Amino acid sequence: MTDVPESDVYKLFKKSIENENVHMIGTTVDTGLEWQAVDECKERISPNLHVVKERGKIYFNVTLDQFAKVQEMRSIDNIFLISDVRQFQFSKDNEESDMSLIKDAVNMDMKLEKGLEAWKTVTSFNGKLYPKLEEFEEAEQLHKAEKTIVDDKHSALTTPDVRKGRKRGRDPSISNENEILKYRVTCERTGSHAFESGQVARVIGGELQDKYHWLVDLTMYHLEFVCNVIHNELITCLRVTHESKHRRNILHFGPTTLRATVCYSLIKLANPKQGEIIMDPMCGGGSIPIEAAIAFPNTYVLCGDNHEKAVARTKSNIDGQLVPRSMDLVEWSVSELPLKDSSIDIVVTDMPFGKRSGSMTDNRVLYKKYLAELGRVSKLGTGRLVLLTYDRRSIQLALQVTSSSFKVIKMLGVNMGGLHAAVYVLKRTKFQQYNKEPNKKSSNDAVV
Ligand SMILES: C[S@@+](CC[C@H](N)C(=O)[O-])C[C@H]1O[C@@H](n2cnc3c(N)ncnc32)[C@H](O)[C@@H]1O
Repeated sequence: MTDVPESDVYKLFKKSIENENVHMIGTTVDTGLEWQAVDECKERISPNLHVVKERGKIYFNVTLDQFAKVQEMRSIDNIFLISDVRQFQFSKDNEESDMSLIKDAVNMDMKLEKGLEAWKTVTSFNGKLYPKLEEFEEAEQLHKAEKTIVDDKHSALTTPDVRKGRKRGRDPSISNENEILKYRVTCERTGSHAFESGQVARVIGGELQDKYHWLVDLTMYHLEFVCNVIHNELITCLRVTHESKHRRNILHFGPTTLRATVCYSLIKLANPKQGEIIMDPMCGGGSIPIEAAIAFPNTYVLCGDNHEKAVARTKSNIDGQLVPRSMDLVEWSVSELPLKDSSIDIVVTDMPFGKRSGSMTDNRVLYKKYLAELGRVSKLGTGRLVLLTYDRRSIQLALQVTSSSFKVIKMLGVNMGGLHAAVYVLKRTKFQQYNKEPNKKSSNDAVV
């Protein structure tokens, strides 16, 4: 080891290797919503759990019997078992010596077996984790022949889901006991190094093959090693999730479909309680209301949109749920909601960003009307609102106009597919809105 200061991730890993039954987990999280994932982790696993938060990731230690709880988490995307964390003194200018350091570490120092066994258990991989050399040589011949046929047929063996890039590799549980593990290595790198990410992946991949006799398969692998090189640290992760958890609810995707993981964290920011009414009045394809109905089944969910196609898409997505979910869907405009004054507990919305949907000029008017209407329908003194938008200028202007109705509790910056968005958490004040401008409406024709 080196005199590089120990990182929090490294310290956490050292704790995990002290106990045979403890495994370190790493998960990816939507950037900006990491604290939501930390809170969920503590809520589901243990309030005293030590969680290390990094940008877009969280790490923690669990026992294998707690793993089911990790899989139930709704704010995280991909799950990894961390099988090794180590620090190097990379040269910065000598690629060859840096690669030798990594090669020697994999070959001599890395004890991956504990992580591999845990991976086999949690993914239900039935095949051979430690094949003999003869078994590997025989399987490799066969694999090469198969691959030639597949390449000739333009990837006939590749499932449509893999081609669309949704699922990663193949499901390890669909393997037979004679199958030899197929793997691939990828590398993600942060910092300045003398080497490229591809070289790290090739060197680690080669060493692993020599050590364990596995078959390389870049598309239809059972196990992916994701090697994160962060400055002087190498975190070796075994991918557990075959498909990112953010795609779980929606069958009919639209241009602005929000990830289910983000929906969960937004709803959680409002802290829903049993019997409360959760509303998304600009629901697009329904990702927020569907997640609300699944994750908070003791609430009542109401949603709508002014676009007929969005309403139809939400309906198809609700109908596509394996377990029927009861919620109400209405075609409406947010500037005139058919709801009673002070009737809604929680509003969670992904507002038109003005980038992918809506326009910034429209937003100036729309946001003011919308917030005025939300001031009217939200419960006085207790109503909570969580609004996601890219258009900070329009929301700031709308909040100025409606300042007596809302108190800003929190503001978070989040990364939505490369766009910098903001989440506003508001609380409805107990003040009545005397001036109903700009909507000029007092709604008596309510449905709630
Ligand atoms: C960013 S999208 C919501 C996407 C949604 N969260 C999803 O995952 O599919 C914003 C939605 O607001 C709707 N919208 C825009 N103006 C509206 C209005 N005046 N009343 C109701 N909905 C409106 C648009 O039709 C669009 O579906």
